[in-house]
Amino acid sequence: MDLETAALLRDPLTRDPLELVREADQPFLLNPHLGRRFPIRDGIPVFVKLGELEGRNRQFRKLYDRVAIFYDVQSHIYAFLFGQNLRALRSGFLAELEFRPGDRVLEVSVGTAWNLRLLPPEIDFYGLDLSWGMLAKARRNLRCWKREARLFCGEGENLPFSDNCFDVVFQLGGLNFFNDKGRAIREMVRVARPGTRLLISDENEKQIRALYRKIPILGRRLWHHREGLGPPLDLLPASVEQPTVRHHADARFYTLTFRKPL
Ligand SMILES: C[S@@+](CC[C@H](N)C(=O)[O-])C[C@H]1O[C@@H](n2cnc3c(N)ncnc32)[C@H](O)[C@@H]1O
Repeated sequence: MDLETAALLRDPLTRDPLELVREADQPFLLNPHLGRRFPIRDGIPVFVKLGELEGRNRQFRKLYDRVAIFYDVQSHIYAFLFGQNLRALRSGFLAELEFRPGDRVLEVSVGTAWNLRLLPPEIDFYGLDLSWGMLAKARRNLRCWKREARLFCGEGENLPFSDNCFDVVFQLGGLNFFNDKGRAIREMVRVARPGTRLLISDENEKQIRALYRKIPILGRRLWHHREGLGPPLDLLPASVEQPTVRHHADARFYTLTFRKPL
């Protein structure tokens, strides 16, 4: 953890700035007002622990911790079974964004960081996820791909970053099953710089239904939580501009883009 990154970090609940402290060679982040500490494990600041999670966030954290090791292979198989090419599909989603060299980019629910391989090399990439298992796999992936990224363990609903600090903010495949999608969207907007274009992409109900039919063991839990799937236009803050929905792969997935006003 470097000082430049630490300067962007905030207590996710109070937004107080944090200090980077080293005690007996063990770094951690400290909220000096409340005395609250956030550990840094293997270089990853941990803002939330399993025991503090509730509802779907707790269920999905456990699920993703379990499947993390197989997740990348599983995603390819899953796409193949539906006649899709994972790389082409996700490149199509990400093509909705604008990147410039040196941009500070945040992916919320970064998972195993697989999408980073589809992004230009000269960006400064930050990834946040709820699941420690997925982040541990992301660390291994980054070493293997020789790519750099800063990873954070936290909830999308309470981002540990200061206001207006990212040039690009997106999430792919996470929002559908968050505890509080509206709050997570407001958080994405808060941390984006004014004028930033944001992207949310996820499965439509059609894909979840097809998954449930084809691979019930994978689809059962998702189908159970299918309520409210689809582009969350109704949850966008009234201030955002140019909300645009596109459907992809026979309307099995959507992308929703919008801009934070200047
Ligand atoms: C389907 S995976 C997508 C991972 C990655 N974005 C990708 O495209 O490969 C969904 C991810 O969302 C994360 N997630 C679920 N709920 C979350 C929340 N409330 N806050 C942050 N991450 C969450 C899960 O841990 C999981 O890694």
